[in-house]
Amino acid sequence: MVRITVRDPERMHELGRRLATLLTPGDLVLLSGELGAGKTTLTRGLGEGLGVRGAVTSPTFVIARVHPSLCGGPALVHVDAYRLGGGLDEMEDLDLDVSLPESVVVVEWGDGKVEDLSDARLHVVISRTVGAAAGPAGAEDADDVREVTVTGVGPRWAKEDLSPLLV
Ligand SMILES: Nc1ncnc2c1ncn2[C@@H]1O[C@H](COP(=O)(O)OP(=O)(O)O)[C@@H](O)[C@H]1O
Ligand SMILES: [Mg+2]
Repeated sequence: MVRITVRDPERMHELGRRLATLLTPGDLVLLSGELGAGKTTLTRGLGEGLGVRGAVTSPTFVIARVHPSLCGGPALVHVDAYRLGGGLDEMEDLDLDVSLPESVVVVEWGDGKVEDLSDARLHVVISRTVGAAAGPAGAEDADDVREVTVTGVGPRWAKEDLSPLLV
């Protein structure tokens, strides 16, 4: 598990780019964090790092959006789990125009809904820091500081070195 302090949206974007370097086809990345935590910002950097087509935006009006690769790599499938009532199994029924085992799947999951998931996954939790960790009281950018933890679950991640995520 690695823990990263991310001070502004640009650095969150950059973390997404670094995360992309670790990902291979078939990987599932679960992003947890409240609304406005920075899940979509991270995914935007990830899409840029993967070299996929199309602007990554909040998948608010669709359950999942497919971004094909522009460089022969895996597509990015960006999922809003709030609309995926039945859990990840339901994804197989979405009839996406892409093979999930050949794609990188990123799910914006929101808080506290992952307990019943046992799939191999990279779990990224983004939280707003409070108090001392956010810097001096009254610092004007204190609200921007995020604490990100990245944890690999399952054998896929057991031997993977997550240190490239650290600056
Ligand atoms: N350190 C930070 N990391 C990510 N986003 C930040 C940060 N500081 C401020 N923000 C702002 O917070 C908002 C995050 O929005 P978004 O990425 O859509 O969150 P989510 O997808 O988790 O709802 C953006 O407006 C972004 O500019
Ligand atoms: Mg979002």
